[in-house]
Amino acid sequence: MQAVLDYLAANRQRFIHDLCDYVRFPSVSAQPAHSGDLQACAGWLAARCRSLGLSVELHPTAGNPIVVAKTPPVPGAPTFVVYGHYDVQPPEPFELWKSPPFEPRLEGANLFGRGSSDNKGQHLAHLNAVEAYLRTGTPLPCNLTFLIEGEEEVGSTALYEFLPAHRKELACAAVVISDNGIPDLKHPALTYALRGIAALEIRIDGPNRDLHSGLFGGTVENPAMALCQLLGRLRDARGRITVPGFYDDVEPLTKYERRQLAKLPSTPEGFRRLTGSPELFGETGFTPEEQRTARPTLEINGLTSGYQGEGSKTIIPAWASAKITIRLVPDQEPKKMIRLVRERLKELCPSTVRLTIRNGHGGEPYLVSPEGPKAQAVLQALEAGFGHPGVLMREGGSIPIVSAFRRHLKADTLLLGMALPDDNAHSPNEKFNLDAYAAGMRTAAHLWPLLTVAAA
Ligand code: BES
Ligand code: ZN
Repeated sequence: MQAVLDYLAANRQRFIHDLCDYVRFPSVSAQPAHSGDLQACAGWLAARCRSLGLSVELHPTAGNPIVVAKTPPVPGAPTFVVYGHYDVQPPEPFELWKSPPFEPRLEGANLFGRGSSDNKGQHLAHLNAVEAYLRTGTPLPCNLTFLIEGEEEVGSTALYEFLPAHRKELACAAVVISDNGIPDLKHPALTYALRGIAALEIRIDGPNRDLHSGLFGGTVENPAMALCQLLGRLRDARGRITVPGFYDDVEPLTKYERRQLAKLPSTPEGFRRLTGSPELFGETGFTPEEQRTARPTLEINGLTSGYQGEGSKTIIPAWASAKITIRLVPDQEPKKMIRLVRERLKELCPSTVRLTIRNGHGGEPYLVSPEGPKAQAVLQALEAGFGHPGVLMREGGSIPIVSAFRRHLKADTLLLGMALPDDNAHSPNEKFNLDAYAAGMRTAAHLWPLLTVAAA
Protein backbone atom coordinates (compact mmCIF):
# COMPACT_ATOMS: atom_id res chain seq x y z
CA MET A 1 0.00 0.00 0.00
CA GLN A 2 2.87 2.41 0.74
CA ALA A 3 4.02 2.21 -2.88
CA VAL A 4 0.51 3.15 -4.02
CA LEU A 5 0.34 6.11 -1.63
CA ASP A 6 3.84 7.28 -2.63
CA TYR A 7 2.83 7.09 -6.29
CA LEU A 8 -0.27 9.21 -5.60
CA ALA A 9 1.82 11.83 -3.78
CA ALA A 10 4.52 11.89 -6.47
CA ASN A 11 1.96 12.37 -9.26
CA ARG A 12 -0.18 15.02 -7.58
CA GLN A 13 0.60 17.73 -10.14
CA ARG A 14 -0.02 15.48 -13.13
CA PHE A 15 -3.36 14.34 -11.72
CA ILE A 16 -4.38 18.00 -11.46
CA HIS A 17 -3.23 18.54 -15.02
CA ASP A 18 -5.28 15.51 -16.18
CA LEU A 19 -8.36 16.86 -14.45
CA CYS A 20 -7.87 20.18 -16.26
CA ASP A 21 -7.84 18.31 -19.58
CA TYR A 22 -11.05 16.52 -18.61
CA VAL A 23 -12.81 19.73 -17.51
CA ARG A 24 -11.97 21.44 -20.81
CA PHE A 25 -14.68 19.39 -22.59
CA PRO A 26 -17.94 21.37 -22.45
CA SER A 27 -19.94 18.19 -21.90
CA VAL A 28 -23.29 19.86 -21.19
CA SER A 29 -25.93 17.15 -21.52
CA ALA A 30 -28.92 19.51 -21.33
CA GLN A 31 -27.91 21.32 -24.53
CA PRO A 32 -28.16 19.36 -27.81
CA ALA A 33 -25.54 21.62 -29.44
CA HIS A 34 -22.94 19.98 -27.17
CA SER A 35 -23.57 16.37 -28.21
CA GLY A 36 -20.26 16.31 -30.14
CA ASP A 37 -18.44 17.53 -27.02
CA LEU A 38 -20.00 14.71 -25.00
CA GLN A 39 -18.80 12.17 -27.58
CA ALA A 40 -15.29 13.65 -27.48
CA CYS A 41 -15.28 13.70 -23.68
CA ALA A 42 -16.30 10.02 -23.51
CA GLY A 43 -13.56 9.28 -26.06
CA TRP A 44 -10.96 11.02 -23.87
CA LEU A 45 -12.05 9.02 -20.82
CA ALA A 46 -12.03 5.72 -22.73
CA ALA A 47 -8.52 6.45 -24.05
CA ARG A 48 -7.27 7.25 -20.57
CA CYS A 49 -8.68 4.01 -19.16
CA ARG A 50 -7.11 2.07 -22.03
CA SER A 51 -3.73 3.68 -21.45
CA LEU A 52 -3.80 2.37 -17.87
CA GLY A 53 -4.37 -1.18 -19.09
CA LEU A 54 -8.11 -1.43 -18.45
CA SER A 55 -10.31 -3.22 -20.96
CA VAL A 56 -12.69 -0.58 -22.24
CA GLU A 57 -15.96 -0.56 -24.10
CA LEU A 58 -17.39 2.69 -25.34
CA HIS A 59 -21.08 1.88 -25.78
CA PRO A 60 -23.01 4.12 -28.16
CA THR A 61 -26.59 4.83 -27.04
CA ALA A 62 -29.53 6.82 -28.38
CA GLY A 63 -28.06 9.65 -26.32
CA ASN A 64 -24.52 9.96 -24.98
CA PRO A 65 -22.03 7.08 -24.86
CA ILE A 66 -21.58 4.93 -21.76
CA VAL A 67 -18.01 4.02 -20.81
CA VAL A 68 -17.42 0.62 -19.20
CA ALA A 69 -13.82 -0.09 -18.17
CA LYS A 70 -12.61 -3.16 -16.30
CA THR A 71 -9.38 -3.78 -14.39
CA PRO A 72 -7.38 -6.91 -15.29
CA PRO A 73 -9.34 -9.93 -13.94
CA VAL A 74 -8.58 -11.30 -10.47
CA PRO A 75 -10.29 -14.70 -10.55
CA GLY A 76 -12.33 -15.62 -7.50
CA ALA A 77 -12.19 -12.09 -6.07
CA PRO A 78 -15.30 -9.90 -5.68
CA THR A 79 -16.18 -7.22 -8.20
CA PHE A 80 -17.18 -3.66 -7.42
CA VAL A 81 -18.70 -1.11 -9.76
CA VAL A 82 -17.50 2.49 -9.58
CA TYR A 83 -20.16 4.76 -11.05
CA GLY A 84 -19.76 8.38 -12.17
CA HIS A 85 -20.89 10.82 -14.86
CA TYR A 86 -18.90 12.87 -17.35
CA ASP A 87 -21.78 15.17 -18.30
CA VAL A 88 -22.10 18.52 -16.57
CA GLN A 89 -24.74 21.13 -15.80
CA PRO A 90 -25.19 24.12 -18.12
CA PRO A 91 -22.70 26.84 -17.13
CA GLU A 92 -25.12 29.77 -17.57
CA PRO A 93 -25.18 32.58 -16.49
CA PHE A 94 -21.69 33.13 -17.97
CA GLU A 95 -21.29 36.66 -16.64
CA LEU A 96 -21.19 35.41 -13.05
CA TRP A 97 -18.09 33.24 -13.64
CA LYS A 98 -14.77 34.77 -12.58
CA SER A 99 -13.09 32.83 -15.40
CA PRO A 100 -14.61 30.92 -18.34
CA PRO A 101 -16.29 27.70 -17.12
CA PHE A 102 -14.41 25.39 -19.50
CA GLU A 103 -10.98 26.99 -19.07
CA PRO A 104 -9.87 25.41 -15.78
CA ARG A 105 -8.20 27.86 -13.39
CA LEU A 106 -6.13 27.11 -10.31
CA GLU A 107 -6.48 29.45 -7.37
CA GLY A 108 -5.04 28.46 -4.01
CA ALA A 109 -6.23 24.96 -3.13
CA ASN A 110 -9.04 25.00 -5.70
CA LEU A 111 -9.51 24.11 -9.33
CA PHE A 112 -12.35 26.12 -10.89
CA GLY A 113 -14.39 24.85 -13.83
CA ARG A 114 -17.83 23.43 -14.64
CA GLY A 115 -17.83 19.72 -13.82
CA SER A 116 -14.63 19.89 -11.73
CA SER A 117 -16.37 18.39 -8.67
CA ASP A 118 -19.77 17.35 -10.15
CA ASN A 119 -18.53 14.88 -11.18
CA LYS A 120 -15.30 14.66 -13.20
CA GLY A 121 -12.80 15.16 -10.36
CA GLN A 122 -14.53 12.71 -8.07
CA HIS A 123 -14.50 9.69 -10.38
CA LEU A 124 -11.08 10.60 -11.79
CA ALA A 125 -9.77 10.28 -8.21
CA HIS A 126 -10.88 6.63 -8.27
CA LEU A 127 -9.25 6.08 -11.64
CA ASN A 128 -6.02 7.66 -10.40
CA ALA A 129 -5.96 5.30 -7.41
CA VAL A 130 -6.28 2.35 -9.80
CA GLU A 131 -3.47 3.80 -11.90
CA ALA A 132 -1.31 3.85 -8.77
CA TYR A 133 -1.98 0.13 -8.17
CA LEU A 134 -1.31 -0.85 -11.76
CA ARG A 135 1.79 1.30 -12.30
CA THR A 136 3.48 0.23 -9.06
CA GLY A 137 2.75 -3.44 -9.70
CA THR A 138 0.68 -3.62 -6.50
CA PRO A 139 -1.91 -6.36 -6.94
CA LEU A 140 -5.52 -5.14 -6.73
CA PRO A 141 -7.40 -7.48 -4.38
CA CYS A 142 -10.63 -7.28 -6.39
CA ASN A 143 -12.14 -6.62 -9.80
CA LEU A 144 -13.31 -3.11 -10.61
CA THR A 145 -15.78 -2.05 -13.27
CA PHE A 146 -15.91 1.66 -13.99
CA LEU A 147 -19.33 2.66 -15.29
CA ILE A 148 -19.30 6.28 -16.37
CA GLU A 149 -22.34 7.76 -18.11
CA GLY A 150 -23.07 11.02 -19.92
CA GLU A 151 -26.69 11.77 -19.00
CA GLU A 152 -26.86 11.92 -15.22
CA GLU A 153 -27.79 15.58 -15.14
CA VAL A 154 -30.73 14.96 -17.48
CA GLY A 155 -32.18 11.79 -16.03
CA SER A 156 -29.87 8.91 -17.14
CA THR A 157 -32.27 7.75 -19.88
CA ALA A 158 -29.70 5.62 -21.73
CA LEU A 159 -28.34 4.04 -18.57
CA TYR A 160 -31.82 2.94 -17.44
CA GLU A 161 -32.04 0.88 -20.65
CA PHE A 162 -28.43 -0.24 -20.50
CA LEU A 163 -28.52 -1.66 -16.97
CA PRO A 164 -30.97 -4.55 -17.42
CA ALA A 165 -29.41 -5.44 -20.77
CA HIS A 166 -25.88 -5.58 -19.30
CA ARG A 167 -26.68 -7.17 -15.96
CA LYS A 168 -24.04 -9.89 -16.29
CA GLU A 169 -21.27 -7.57 -17.39
CA LEU A 170 -22.05 -5.29 -14.44
CA ALA A 171 -22.58 -7.96 -11.77
CA CYS A 172 -20.99 -6.81 -8.51
CA ALA A 173 -20.92 -7.10 -4.73
CA ALA A 174 -21.54 -3.35 -4.29
CA VAL A 175 -21.54 -0.08 -6.17
CA VAL A 176 -19.26 2.72 -5.04
CA ILE A 177 -20.16 6.30 -5.94
CA SER A 178 -18.38 9.56 -5.28
CA ASP A 179 -20.90 12.04 -6.68
CA ASN A 180 -21.77 13.76 -3.45
CA GLY A 181 -20.31 15.85 -0.69
CA ILE A 182 -18.83 15.97 2.79
CA PRO A 183 -19.24 18.71 5.42
CA ASP A 184 -15.53 19.60 5.43
CA LEU A 185 -12.07 18.02 5.10
CA LYS A 186 -12.05 17.06 8.78
CA HIS A 187 -15.35 15.20 8.48
CA PRO A 188 -15.11 12.70 5.65
CA ALA A 189 -18.47 10.95 5.43
CA LEU A 190 -20.29 7.86 4.36
CA THR A 191 -23.62 8.97 2.93
CA TYR A 192 -26.24 6.34 3.64
CA ALA A 193 -29.36 8.09 2.31
CA LEU A 194 -30.32 10.25 -0.66
CA ARG A 195 -33.54 12.06 -1.36
CA GLY A 196 -35.66 11.09 -4.33
CA ILE A 197 -37.14 13.55 -6.76
CA ALA A 198 -40.21 14.12 -8.93
CA ALA A 199 -40.63 16.97 -11.39
CA LEU A 200 -43.76 18.75 -12.64
CA GLU A 201 -44.49 21.56 -15.06
CA ILE A 202 -47.57 23.64 -14.47
CA ARG A 203 -49.14 25.99 -16.96
CA ILE A 204 -52.05 28.32 -16.46
CA ASP A 205 -53.87 29.78 -19.45
CA GLY A 206 -56.29 32.70 -19.26
CA PRO A 207 -57.26 35.07 -22.09
CA ASN A 208 -56.47 34.00 -25.66
CA ARG A 209 -53.75 36.71 -26.00
CA ASP A 210 -51.89 39.26 -23.86
CA LEU A 211 -54.44 41.97 -23.05
CA HIS A 212 -54.14 45.70 -22.27
CA SER A 213 -54.11 45.73 -18.48
CA GLY A 214 -55.87 49.09 -18.35
CA LEU A 215 -58.68 48.17 -20.72
CA PHE A 216 -59.26 44.68 -19.32
CA GLY A 217 -57.65 44.64 -15.85
CA GLY A 218 -60.36 43.87 -13.32
CA THR A 219 -62.56 41.90 -15.68
CA VAL A 220 -60.60 38.68 -16.23
CA GLU A 221 -58.26 36.57 -14.11
CA ASN A 222 -54.58 37.37 -14.42
CA PRO A 223 -52.82 34.00 -15.04
CA ALA A 224 -49.61 35.16 -13.35
CA MET A 225 -51.54 36.16 -10.23
CA ALA A 226 -53.56 32.93 -10.30
CA LEU A 227 -50.36 30.88 -10.54
CA CYS A 228 -48.71 32.76 -7.67
CA GLN A 229 -51.76 32.30 -5.47
CA LEU A 230 -52.00 28.64 -6.38
CA LEU A 231 -48.34 28.01 -5.60
CA GLY A 232 -48.53 30.14 -2.47
CA ARG A 233 -51.19 27.88 -1.04
CA LEU A 234 -48.96 24.80 -1.31
CA ARG A 235 -46.88 25.74 1.76
CA ASP A 236 -47.81 27.19 5.14
CA ALA A 237 -45.95 29.72 7.29
CA ARG A 238 -44.26 26.94 9.27
CA GLY A 239 -42.71 25.48 6.14
CA ARG A 240 -45.07 22.50 5.87
CA ILE A 241 -46.35 21.45 2.47
CA THR A 242 -50.14 21.58 2.57
CA VAL A 243 -50.78 18.77 0.11
CA PRO A 244 -52.99 16.23 1.93
CA GLY A 245 -51.05 13.01 2.56
CA PHE A 246 -47.68 14.64 1.73
CA TYR A 247 -46.00 13.34 4.91
CA ASP A 248 -47.89 10.03 5.28
CA ASP A 249 -45.09 7.75 4.04
CA VAL A 250 -42.16 9.57 5.63
CA GLU A 251 -40.04 7.22 7.70
CA PRO A 252 -39.12 9.30 10.78
CA LEU A 253 -35.49 9.72 11.76
CA THR A 254 -34.45 7.39 14.56
CA LYS A 255 -32.96 8.80 17.75
CA TYR A 256 -29.64 7.22 16.73
CA GLU A 257 -29.73 9.01 13.39
CA ARG A 258 -30.62 12.37 14.92
CA ARG A 259 -27.67 11.99 17.29
CA GLN A 260 -25.35 11.11 14.38
CA LEU A 261 -26.57 14.05 12.29
CA ALA A 262 -26.11 16.37 15.27
CA LYS A 263 -22.39 15.43 15.28
CA LEU A 264 -21.90 16.95 11.84
CA PRO A 265 -20.10 20.26 11.95
CA SER A 266 -22.78 22.19 10.03
CA THR A 267 -24.64 24.90 11.97
CA PRO A 268 -27.64 27.08 11.17
CA GLU A 269 -25.39 30.15 10.98
CA GLY A 270 -23.04 28.24 8.69
CA PHE A 271 -25.94 27.48 6.33
CA ARG A 272 -27.03 31.10 6.43
CA ARG A 273 -23.57 32.32 5.47
CA LEU A 274 -23.05 29.62 2.85
CA THR A 275 -26.30 30.51 1.10
CA GLY A 276 -26.09 34.27 1.58
CA SER A 277 -29.74 34.33 2.72
CA PRO A 278 -30.82 37.09 5.12
CA GLU A 279 -32.36 34.45 7.39
CA LEU A 280 -33.00 30.71 7.18
CA PHE A 281 -36.44 29.29 6.46
CA GLY A 282 -37.51 25.68 6.87
CA GLU A 283 -39.94 23.28 8.41
CA THR A 284 -40.33 23.99 12.12
CA GLY A 285 -38.96 21.36 14.51
CA PHE A 286 -35.99 20.20 12.42
CA THR A 287 -32.36 21.31 12.12
CA PRO A 288 -31.19 22.54 8.69
CA GLU A 289 -29.26 19.28 8.24
CA GLU A 290 -32.47 17.32 8.91
CA GLN A 291 -34.60 19.64 6.79
CA ARG A 292 -32.40 19.24 3.73
CA THR A 293 -31.81 15.50 3.94
CA ALA A 294 -34.55 13.74 5.88
CA ARG A 295 -37.68 15.82 5.16
CA PRO A 296 -39.58 16.05 1.88
CA THR A 297 -39.83 19.49 0.28
CA LEU A 298 -41.49 21.18 -2.67
CA GLU A 299 -39.52 23.82 -4.58
CA ILE A 300 -40.31 26.16 -7.44
CA ASN A 301 -37.33 25.87 -9.80
CA GLY A 302 -38.53 28.27 -12.46
CA LEU A 303 -41.35 30.76 -12.93
CA THR A 304 -42.29 32.41 -16.21
CA SER A 305 -44.96 34.85 -17.30
CA GLY A 306 -45.58 38.17 -18.98
CA TYR A 307 -43.09 40.73 -20.16
CA GLN A 308 -39.46 40.23 -19.04
CA GLY A 309 -37.74 42.88 -21.17
CA GLU A 310 -36.54 46.35 -20.27
CA GLY A 311 -38.99 48.97 -19.06
CA SER A 312 -42.65 48.23 -18.51
CA LYS A 313 -45.38 46.74 -20.66
CA THR A 314 -48.89 47.03 -19.31
CA ILE A 315 -50.44 43.67 -20.07
CA ILE A 316 -52.39 40.86 -18.53
CA PRO A 317 -50.28 37.92 -19.68
CA ALA A 318 -52.16 35.20 -21.55
CA TRP A 319 -50.38 32.48 -19.58
CA ALA A 320 -48.02 31.68 -16.73
CA SER A 321 -45.92 28.61 -16.03
CA ALA A 322 -43.80 27.08 -13.31
CA LYS A 323 -41.30 24.26 -13.03
CA ILE A 324 -41.56 22.43 -9.75
CA THR A 325 -39.73 19.56 -8.09
CA ILE A 326 -40.50 17.69 -4.93
CA ARG A 327 -37.68 15.99 -3.02
CA LEU A 328 -38.68 12.71 -1.45
CA VAL A 329 -37.42 10.70 1.49
CA PRO A 330 -37.81 7.00 2.34
CA ASP A 331 -40.51 5.52 1.93
CA GLN A 332 -42.21 8.02 -0.39
CA GLU A 333 -42.92 6.85 -3.94
CA PRO A 334 -42.48 9.36 -6.78
CA LYS A 335 -45.66 8.23 -8.62
CA LYS A 336 -47.88 8.49 -5.60
CA MET A 337 -46.42 11.84 -4.54
CA ILE A 338 -46.94 13.28 -8.02
CA ARG A 339 -50.55 12.13 -7.91
CA LEU A 340 -51.13 13.84 -4.55
CA VAL A 341 -49.64 17.13 -5.74
CA ARG A 342 -51.61 17.01 -9.01
CA GLU A 343 -54.86 16.39 -7.16
CA ARG A 344 -54.19 19.31 -4.81
CA LEU A 345 -53.36 21.68 -7.68
CA LYS A 346 -56.56 20.75 -9.52
CA GLU A 347 -58.57 21.23 -6.37
CA LEU A 348 -57.09 24.69 -5.73
CA CYS A 349 -57.19 26.01 -9.29
CA PRO A 350 -60.02 28.51 -9.90
CA SER A 351 -62.39 27.97 -12.83
CA THR A 352 -61.37 31.38 -14.29
CA VAL A 353 -58.23 29.80 -15.82
CA ARG A 354 -57.23 26.50 -17.45
CA LEU A 355 -54.62 24.35 -15.69
CA THR A 356 -52.28 21.96 -17.50
CA ILE A 357 -49.81 19.75 -15.59
CA ARG A 358 -47.02 17.78 -17.21
CA ASN A 359 -45.03 15.13 -15.37
CA GLY A 360 -41.24 15.24 -15.65
CA HIS A 361 -38.43 12.96 -14.49
CA GLY A 362 -38.49 11.12 -11.20
CA GLY A 363 -36.30 9.05 -8.93
CA GLU A 364 -36.81 7.09 -5.75
CA PRO A 365 -35.21 8.00 -2.43
CA TYR A 366 -32.42 5.72 -1.22
CA LEU A 367 -31.44 4.34 2.17
CA VAL A 368 -28.83 1.73 3.05
CA SER A 369 -27.87 0.42 6.48
CA PRO A 370 -24.89 2.37 7.84
CA GLU A 371 -24.03 -0.51 10.15
CA GLY A 372 -23.14 -3.40 7.83
CA PRO A 373 -19.54 -4.60 7.23
CA LYS A 374 -19.19 -2.78 3.86
CA ALA A 375 -20.23 0.52 5.41
CA GLN A 376 -17.69 -0.02 8.17
CA ALA A 377 -15.01 -0.70 5.55
CA VAL A 378 -15.80 2.63 3.90
CA LEU A 379 -15.56 4.44 7.25
CA GLN A 380 -12.10 2.93 7.81
CA ALA A 381 -10.94 3.88 4.32
CA LEU A 382 -12.17 7.44 4.87
CA GLU A 383 -10.19 7.73 8.08
CA ALA A 384 -7.06 6.38 6.40
CA GLY A 385 -7.48 8.72 3.41
CA PHE A 386 -8.50 11.95 5.14
CA GLY A 387 -6.74 11.45 8.48
CA HIS A 388 -9.98 12.02 10.40
CA PRO A 389 -12.67 9.57 11.51
CA GLY A 390 -15.49 9.03 9.03
CA VAL A 391 -18.94 10.28 10.00
CA LEU A 392 -22.40 9.23 8.84
CA MET A 393 -24.66 11.56 6.92
CA ARG A 394 -27.69 11.75 4.65
CA GLU A 395 -27.80 13.86 1.51
CA GLY A 396 -30.51 16.10 0.15
CA GLY A 397 -29.55 15.67 -3.51
CA SER A 398 -30.65 12.80 -5.73
CA ILE A 399 -28.90 10.13 -7.76
CA PRO A 400 -31.95 8.29 -9.11
CA ILE A 401 -29.99 5.53 -10.83
CA VAL A 402 -28.93 4.19 -7.42
CA SER A 403 -32.29 2.46 -6.94
CA ALA A 404 -31.96 0.92 -10.40
CA PHE A 405 -28.61 -0.56 -9.29
CA ARG A 406 -30.43 -2.17 -6.39
CA ARG A 407 -33.21 -3.43 -8.67
CA HIS A 408 -31.15 -4.79 -11.56
CA LEU A 409 -27.79 -5.64 -9.99
CA LYS A 410 -29.16 -6.48 -6.53
CA ALA A 411 -26.33 -4.39 -5.18
CA ASP A 412 -26.22 -1.74 -2.48
CA THR A 413 -24.49 1.55 -3.13
CA LEU A 414 -21.86 3.10 -0.89
CA LEU A 415 -21.55 6.84 -1.29
CA LEU A 416 -18.29 8.47 -0.36
CA GLY A 417 -18.22 12.05 -1.49
CA MET A 418 -15.28 14.36 -1.98
CA ALA A 419 -17.10 17.62 -2.78
CA LEU A 420 -17.25 20.43 -0.23
CA PRO A 421 -20.34 22.52 0.54
CA ASP A 422 -18.76 25.59 -1.08
CA ASP A 423 -17.77 23.78 -4.30
CA ASN A 424 -20.69 25.48 -6.08
CA ALA A 425 -22.23 22.42 -7.70
CA HIS A 426 -24.72 23.58 -10.36
CA SER A 427 -23.79 27.23 -9.59
CA PRO A 428 -21.40 29.65 -11.26
CA ASN A 429 -17.73 29.22 -10.24
CA GLU A 430 -17.96 25.49 -9.59
CA LYS A 431 -14.70 24.21 -8.16
CA PHE A 432 -12.99 21.17 -6.70
CA ASN A 433 -10.77 21.36 -3.65
CA LEU A 434 -7.42 19.79 -4.53
CA ASP A 435 -6.80 18.54 -0.99
CA ALA A 436 -10.14 16.73 -1.20
CA TYR A 437 -9.01 15.36 -4.58
CA ALA A 438 -5.79 14.00 -3.00
CA ALA A 439 -7.56 12.67 0.10
CA GLY A 440 -10.19 11.10 -2.16
CA MET A 441 -7.47 9.27 -4.11
CA ARG A 442 -5.90 7.96 -0.89
CA THR A 443 -9.33 6.86 0.35
CA ALA A 444 -9.96 5.06 -2.95
CA ALA A 445 -6.59 3.33 -2.62
CA HIS A 446 -7.33 2.12 0.93
CA LEU A 447 -10.88 1.15 0.06
CA TRP A 448 -10.36 -1.91 -2.12
CA PRO A 449 -8.49 -4.19 0.33
CA LEU A 450 -10.93 -3.24 3.12
CA LEU A 451 -14.03 -3.69 0.98
CA THR A 452 -12.77 -6.99 -0.42
CA VAL A 453 -12.50 -8.40 3.10
CA ALA A 454 -15.92 -6.99 4.03
CA ALA A 455 -17.53 -8.57 0.95
CA ALA A 456 -16.11 -12.03 1.69
N1 BES B 1 -24.05 14.98 -7.81
C1 BES B 1 -25.41 15.38 -7.86
C2 BES B 1 -26.30 14.81 -6.77
C3 BES B 1 -25.83 15.00 -5.37
C4 BES B 1 -25.18 16.14 -4.97
C5 BES B 1 -26.08 14.01 -4.48
C6 BES B 1 -24.75 16.28 -3.68
C7 BES B 1 -25.68 14.14 -3.19
C8 BES B 1 -24.99 15.27 -2.79
C9 BES B 1 -26.02 15.02 -9.19
O1 BES B 1 -25.16 15.34 -10.26
C10 BES B 1 -27.28 15.83 -9.38
O2 BES B 1 -27.19 17.01 -9.49
N2 BES B 1 -28.45 15.17 -9.40
C11 BES B 1 -29.68 15.80 -9.70
C12 BES B 1 -30.62 14.72 -10.13
C13 BES B 1 -31.76 15.17 -10.99
C14 BES B 1 -31.33 15.90 -12.22
C15 BES B 1 -32.61 13.98 -11.35
C16 BES B 1 -30.26 16.54 -8.50
O3 BES B 1 -30.09 16.12 -7.35
O4 BES B 1 -30.87 17.60 -8.72
ZN1 ZN C 1 -25.21 17.48 -10.62
